[in-house]
Amino acid sequence: MKAIVRANYGSPDVLEFREIDKPVPKDNQVLVKVHTAAVNPFDWHILRGEPFLVRLMGFGLLKPKHGTIGADMAGKVEAIGKNVTQFKVGDEVYGSGMGGFAEYACLGENAAAHKPENLTFEQAAAVPIAGLTALQALRDRGRVQGGQHVLVNGASGGVGTFAVQIAKAFGAQVTGVCSGKNVELVRSIGADHVIDYTKEHFWLNGQEYDLIVDNAAFQSIHKPLRVLKPQGTYVGVGGSSSTVNVLQSLILNPIIAKIKGRRVVTFIANMNQADLVFMKELLEAGKVTSVIDRRYSLNDTPQAIRYVEEGHARGKVVITI
Ligand SMILES: NC(=O)c1ccc[n+]([C@@H]2O[C@H](COP(=O)([O-])OP(=O)(O)OC[C@H]3O[C@@H](n4cnc5c(N)ncnc54)[C@H](OP(=O)(O)O)[C@@H]3O)[C@@H](O)[C@H]2O)c1
Repeated sequence: MKAIVRANYGSPDVLEFREIDKPVPKDNQVLVKVHTAAVNPFDWHILRGEPFLVRLMGFGLLKPKHGTIGADMAGKVEAIGKNVTQFKVGDEVYGSGMGGFAEYACLGENAAAHKPENLTFEQAAAVPIAGLTALQALRDRGRVQGGQHVLVNGASGGVGTFAVQIAKAFGAQVTGVCSGKNVELVRSIGADHVIDYTKEHFWLNGQEYDLIVDNAAFQSIHKPLRVLKPQGTYVGVGGSSSTVNVLQSLILNPIIAKIKGRRVVTFIANMNQADLVFMKELLEAGKVTSVIDRRYSLNDTPQAIRYVEEGHARGKVVITI
């Protein structure tokens, strides 16, 4: 099969488009004929091995353990492992695994779900990491409630476009923060108010929020905490990814939060079937949809990753296999 592979950590330049053996599913995995894969910032972290912390998470200290990359995918089940009970050959599925930038890839049964019926493969592939991160940030970490005022910083990216729609589905009033070129997009997916960060800082306009979901935490945490209500929650999703900044948000932010008496949560999303099914229901009910920015072919995956790495995607970038 054709796949994108690499032998070492590095920039997208280390990627090669090659013919390799089809993977064989483990007992608890399904083999998927990938129709579409999606690119996430996660992919360039795994590609570069940066921040260094990701290498300590089982991806290989000096050299990558896995030759293939790509996590999110949608396609058809081609074969199943002997312990798989929920899927059969021919099922249309979506989920997050390893090696999605390829013609075939394996998905753990617990990180896969049936594809939402009203979505194309492309729309479905766009969901797993970004959609589940947004869902878990709002529902689990942020404990969002109807009627609350939620601010989504970085509202026009992969996580942000899902976060705005999911917050609306939970009945919240939503303010999205993005650059001027994306104001109309963020409004069109349901944001009640949109702040253009090139013209105005959200922490200076006097409005207070019950919940802040920060996908673009490039500023010191003191700033968003200024506009968080006393009982509110700040959920740090992403932003600067240097090792220093990651350690700072894991160690310093809870201390600052304690001093200021605010609830601050930093988390890493967890890919699981229950949440893919939860998203399938929201998607099939028409409450949420995927926003697709750009499409690339499999051999153009390095360009797709370079584009996402620039940090200004408008929704999701997908790879059509
Ligand atoms: N914690 C987790 O488990 C988890 C999971 C997924 C992602 N993440 C992280 O979350 C972040 C967002 O992920 P993503 O997939 O949404 O990335 P993305 O698709 O690349 O989107 C990034 C968005 O950030 C916006 N942005 C850039 N600078 C900004 C600023 N100063 N203020 C406000 N918005 C700004 C961009 O909008 P403009 O073009 O308008 O600037 C763009 O739409 C990344 O850092 C990623 O690594 C974390």
